[in-house]
Parts: sequence; structure tokens; C-alpha cells
Amino acid sequence: MSNKKILIAYASRTGNTEKLAQAIADGAKKVEGVTVEMKRAKDIKPGDAISADGYAFGSHSAFEYMAGELKTLFEELYHVRDKMSGKPVLLFTTGMGGQVAALESMDKVVGVFNPRWIKPGVAVEGAPRETDRVKASEMGKKLADAVKK
Ligand SMILES: Cc1cc2nc3c(=O)[nH]c(=O)nc-3n(C[C@H](O)[C@H](O)[C@H](O)COP(=O)(O)O)c2cc1C
Repeated sequence: MSNKKILIAYASRTGNTEKLAQAIADGAKKVEGVTVEMKRAKDIKPGDAISADGYAFGSHSAFEYMAGELKTLFEELYHVRDKMSGKPVLLFTTGMGGQVAALESMDKVVGVFNPRWIKPGVAVEGAPRETDRVKASEMGKKLADAVKK
């Protein structure tokens, strides 16, 4: 079977969300035949998304919403949404209480891309603790399992 790729696209200023992204990547890498590409949202080109078979999108909460960097990426990917349609998607956020609001803002926008949802999304307060990392890793593995189906 050919190799499958998961793109983890994230926005992170002080590292909390990046740590969560890493935990998701660790879980996804446990699945044989799946490679993981972790990139900051601002560095992603539409081609990176088109060539991926599944996605994890992550952001810190900024004014109870996703980071601008991620929203800009979604605006760019809107033009290639037919190439992303039906692929598995997991969402993750961190915040200081506003992490669920940020997750909901992403849920609404990503819904336009007709995803195959991998739920629940992972919303963590502050820096991820060990229990958060375990949960994120489990969801990363679930995403990778879905990508292989
Ligand atoms: C400009 C800005 C706005 C923020 N607004 C919120 C907010 O509305 N609600 C909230 O819970 N946290 C807010 N935060 C806190 C961050 O979401 C939180 O510290 C997060 O874990 C940082 O993630 P990072 O280390 O990946 O950057 C804000 C942080 C910044 C820099």
C-alpha cells in the first residue's frame, strides 16, 4: 500500500500549541505507512494541503478565536477545497480559558471543506500536561488510522 501523509498545520506564539502538535504527531507516527509533516500555518502552500491525505489543524486562542495566521491559511485553501474534501480532519487548540471558543471557530470554518471529522477535537488550557499529551497522541493515532482506511 502506498504511503499516506498527514499535514499538521498550526499557529503557536509561545510553544503551547506546538507541543500539542508534537504529541499528535507522535501518536500518528505509531501507525505504519503514515508520514507526518508538521508546519506552521504561515509556511504552508496549497500544494502541501493538496498532497496530504489527512489534516490536523491547531491554534492558540486569540481573542476567543483562531489565530489570524490560521484563518489566512483557510482563506488560501478555500480555492483548493475540492482537493481536500472528504479527508479526515482533527482540530486542536490551547488557551487560557478560551480554547473551546477557538476550537469552535475552527470547526465552523473547516466545515466548509467537507471534512471527515475525527472528533473530539483537543482543547487544552495552557501548556499541555502529560494527560493532555496522552489524549492528543491517542487522537493523532485515530487520525492516522482513518487516513489509512
Ligand atoms: C494576542 C493574544 C490574544 C489572546 N487571547 C486569548 C483569548 O481570547 N482567550 C484565551 O483563552 N487565551 C488567549 N490568549 C492566550 C493564549 O491563547 C494561550 O496562552 C495559548 O496557550 C498560547 O499558545 P501558544 O504558546 O501556542 O502561543 C491570547 C494570547 C495572545 C498572544
